[in-house]
Amino acid sequence: MLLDIARSRRLLFVGGKGGTGKTSVSSGLALARALDGGRVLLVSTDPAHNLGDIWQHGLGDDPRRVFTAEIGHVDAIEVDPQATIEAHFASVESMMMRMLPERTHTAVRDHLKTAKTAPGSHESAVLERIATITEDSIGDYDLVLFDTAPTGHTVHLLALPERLTGWAESLVTNRDRSERFAAAARSLVSPKEETPGPDAQMRRSLLARRDRFALLRSTIADSKQTGFLITTLAERLPVAETLDLVRQLHDLDVDLAGVVVNRRSPADAGDFLSARRDLEDRQLAELARGVAPVPVSEVPLLAGELAGTEAVRRLADLLV
Ligand SMILES: Nc1ncnc2c1ncn2[C@@H]1O[C@H](COP(=O)(O)OP(=O)(O)O)[C@@H](O)[C@H]1O
Ligand SMILES: [Mg+2]
Repeated sequence: MLLDIARSRRLLFVGGKGGTGKTSVSSGLALARALDGGRVLLVSTDPAHNLGDIWQHGLGDDPRRVFTAEIGHVDAIEVDPQATIEAHFASVESMMMRMLPERTHTAVRDHLKTAKTAPGSHESAVLERIATITEDSIGDYDLVLFDTAPTGHTVHLLALPERLTGWAESLVTNRDRSERFAAAARSLVSPKEETPGPDAQMRRSLLARRDRFALLRSTIADSKQTGFLITTLAERLPVAETLDLVRQLHDLDVDLAGVVVNRRSPADAGDFLSARRDLEDRQLAELARGVAPVPVSEVPLLAGELAGTEAVRRLADLLV
């Protein structure tokens, strides 16, 4: 069932409470889709990255191949929001330096330094990376799979494109006005001036940013292309949190493609675990009722450690 979901979408976000198996399930699913012939890009956006650990492979902000199948493969990225922040601010700074008189440069630098560490700048940077990765990769991969940060954080992030779009637009409108003034002033001084100044460059860059976020928002809201998978456990609190997340995704127009209940206790391994399984059954029934008609799949509790390609492959076999 999960493989069918992975086959039918281009973009999948895997989210849920910390420790419920986001990284494990997204890795298993990525490998299953690669064995199925797909080119998969697996992207961790969780600041507490553990994607490299499970694949036992050093990862960074650019794609590295972690698995090769006969036709398909898995490339993986651990996003580095700080690198995005530095690059973004460096380009804003150089544009502003060209635009503004020398005497303001120190103040501009101070201002940018504060803006860099402002609340939300990390999140915007992660979102910007999600947008650029989606844009750059959608042609080269059959599936881009995001292993995201714990629940609240991710939903907040998916809600951001709208706010960021508004923000970029208001900056553009302000610049529009000043550009008109600047153009008017230029035409008075030298009516033939046509080369676009730094002002126009800044405007183009803001517009590009706005378009990027608008495109991401429409891609995320398109259920033919994008889906969200929630990993959870068959326990009271994780189930309550999952139902809450389901409502939030609905409000955001994000299609819930499936729910994965991880670490199910076995029924045939002694009284202790079978008693736990009975408790889980009750929670599972409530969860299934709450998310219907969205499918719920189960992944058993595994005895071994989940690290290395062979372990990911064993998990992949349980997901198809
Ligand atoms: N089905 C499973 N059986 C046993 N251990 C599991 C299973 N799924 C995940 N784990 C282990 O649980 C821990 C948390 O899983 P992880 O995928 O890192 O969660 P998350 O990314 O949501 O924080 C890891 O140590 C992982 O190896
Ligand atoms: Mg993780």
